[in-house]
Amino acid sequence: MFNMSTEDKLKNVSPTFGNTVLPAVPAFDYIKCPLHRYTFSVKPIREWTERNCEGKTLNLFAGRTKLNIDEIRNDLDEEALADYRMDAVEFLRTWQGEKFDTVLLDPPYAFRKSMEMYKGIRCSPFKQMKDEVMNVLKEGGKVITFGYHSNTMGAGRGFKVEKIALFSHGGAIHDTIASVERHCL
Ligand SMILES: C[S@@+](CC[C@H](N)C(=O)[O-])C[C@H]1O[C@@H](n2cnc3c(N)ncnc32)[C@H](O)[C@@H]1O
Repeated sequence: MFNMSTEDKLKNVSPTFGNTVLPAVPAFDYIKCPLHRYTFSVKPIREWTERNCEGKTLNLFAGRTKLNIDEIRNDLDEEALADYRMDAVEFLRTWQGEKFDTVLLDPPYAFRKSMEMYKGIRCSPFKQMKDEVMNVLKEGGKVITFGYHSNTMGAGRGFKVEKIALFSHGGAIHDTIASVERHCL
């Protein structure tokens, strides 16, 4: 059992387990909105994303909707609004410019989605992608990941979950989950 009282949980204090300090309870946003294959074309998701990005942002799977933030956009699709058209892992491995304050990861959420919805453009394997993120992210920076689950950068790579957003699309449609993680120094 973790050593944490209800009072501490409400104050968002980190629980302890032996000598290990565990992450405090992440903040939680719940937003009802439609689903669209181009995530940021849905206004409540776009506005939530703009609010949660900080500083210079790498939008690695940028798609077709520009964000009202300071962003560098990458997408393999020639019809996307993009500054770079590279495979995501290739981009992360070869980037030589200044590092980013925030990295936005909104890939196809599953291989089948990639084939059906995005012209068969294959999403780079998630593990490789996550392993390369620190090549482009400043220490202490943020990663915001969209998907069907909240299994994202993780504590093993030195990240702590700050916030989870659940976008509920209604009916039998999968929810979209966005995880905001901070690289801990
Ligand atoms: C879920 S959509 C999100 C797009 C964007 N965030 C938006 O809201 O419009 C996934 C995007 O990833 C792009 N994509 C798929 N595989 C890719 C890869 N390996 N490298 C870079 N982009 C890729 C697709 O072209 C598509 O635009």
